[in-house]
Amino acid sequence: MKPNSNNVVAPQIQEPISLTSTIQQPPPASVPFPTNRCPFDPDPRYEGIRTSDPVLRVGTPAGFDVWLVSGYEDARTVLGDAETFSNVDASSSHLMGDKDNLGAPPPPGVMLRHDGDSHSRLRLRLAREFMVKRIARLEPFIRDLVATHIDRIGQQKGPLDLYREFALPVPALVISEILGVPEGQRSEFENATASQVDLSLPLEERQAAAIQSAGFFANLIQSKLENPGDDLLSRLILEPTERPMDAAELQGIALLLLTAGHDTTANMITLGTYALLQHPEQAAKLQNPAVMETGVDELIRYLTIVHNGVLRKAVKDTTIAGQTIRAGEHVAVVLESANRDNRFISDGDQLDLERRSAHLGFGYGPHQCLGQHLARLELRIALPELFRRLPGMRVETPETDIPFKNDMLVYGIKKLMINWDEVIS
Ligand code: HEM
Repeated sequence: MKPNSNNVVAPQIQEPISLTSTIQQPPPASVPFPTNRCPFDPDPRYEGIRTSDPVLRVGTPAGFDVWLVSGYEDARTVLGDAETFSNVDASSSHLMGDKDNLGAPPPPGVMLRHDGDSHSRLRLRLAREFMVKRIARLEPFIRDLVATHIDRIGQQKGPLDLYREFALPVPALVISEILGVPEGQRSEFENATASQVDLSLPLEERQAAAIQSAGFFANLIQSKLENPGDDLLSRLILEPTERPMDAAELQGIALLLLTAGHDTTANMITLGTYALLQHPEQAAKLQNPAVMETGVDELIRYLTIVHNGVLRKAVKDTTIAGQTIRAGEHVAVVLESANRDNRFISDGDQLDLERRSAHLGFGYGPHQCLGQHLARLELRIALPELFRRLPGMRVETPETDIPFKNDMLVYGIKKLMINWDEVIS
């Protein structure tokens, strides 16, 4: 996963993939990629596409064609079959524009881009760090962080941007805690990571911030190698194993955790807050912890922020929903459409925090989100606290002027100006 300004995981191949057949190019797609979300629903065309063309050839904004898979069962079939569908190009950045890097080798440590044993080795070593029990230990830290940031909001005069002032810093600081970033360096870390994803900044500034965080991680890893502590990176260094991780792998892991876990959670906080403000009858349930146990997953399903296609590459010929897919061709699995498929969920266009569903908002199969328990915990704390402590919270911008991230890899809102009546403790 190569992080970039848009939370992009860039593709590369670690080992050459042996294709089992010659690629026979299908005719170029005449249908463009549907990218018009509004504001919580998938592009309206998906409702028809799911039944009429469950595997549809479309042209991507980047200029190459993919098979679009939009139904729930077909999505699970593709994502669950890692022997047929490789993750070498598993970066939606390719779909939106970064065509030149298709087929580039995967960076060391970036498990999302690795297949087979290479993926399992990384995943197994990190899985224990993200198990429910270990993540639960972070609860007091996250509660404290959320409280401090709401206090800071209260010290300012509204309106202010919830994304920049709350949603971005909280997950960034959680990741810095997990990685063992020293206290004195956390604001440097927070600034660099926030600037990387802040679309209001010029591209050069965002690129400079990306270089700054890469340099930051290189120094961090060096210091952990020399002087390990009690954190994820140090445990990976100290673990007795036949194949210890080298500095490049550790850096890839740190960057992946940052890019996969930072702006995703930040967008869920911002878009989730907006969705709940638009659904006050659902927001009223936020203070019930029993509802939030499952409610947070309903919000993740309903908003499905990892959108516009999760990319895979077929490594052998196969058939999905009657359509032949040849080795070497790309498939884009549209999670936001699959999560509204009425063959999987009834009234899927409704937000209902009290329902349970096996949604695909965290993906599915061997690459299903590693950080899902952490994301749930952060949202279960942040959203109820925002609504509890900022009574009268409201958005100051008309919906038509809210900058939604339609064209970006992770859906959300670029800036959400909120105001409130008072801050309570
Ligand atoms: C609400 C927030 C989040 C959402 C919606 C989300 C969603 C996803 C999705 C859909 C995938 C699968 C991508 C694919 O199959 O190509 C994924 C993978 C991943 N996510 Fe998350 N994620 C979130 C938060 C996090 C957090 C907090 C972390 C860790 C700090 C994290 C770490 C990862 C990693 C490491 C992978 C790759 C797993 C692998 O390849 O085995 N995510 N995430």
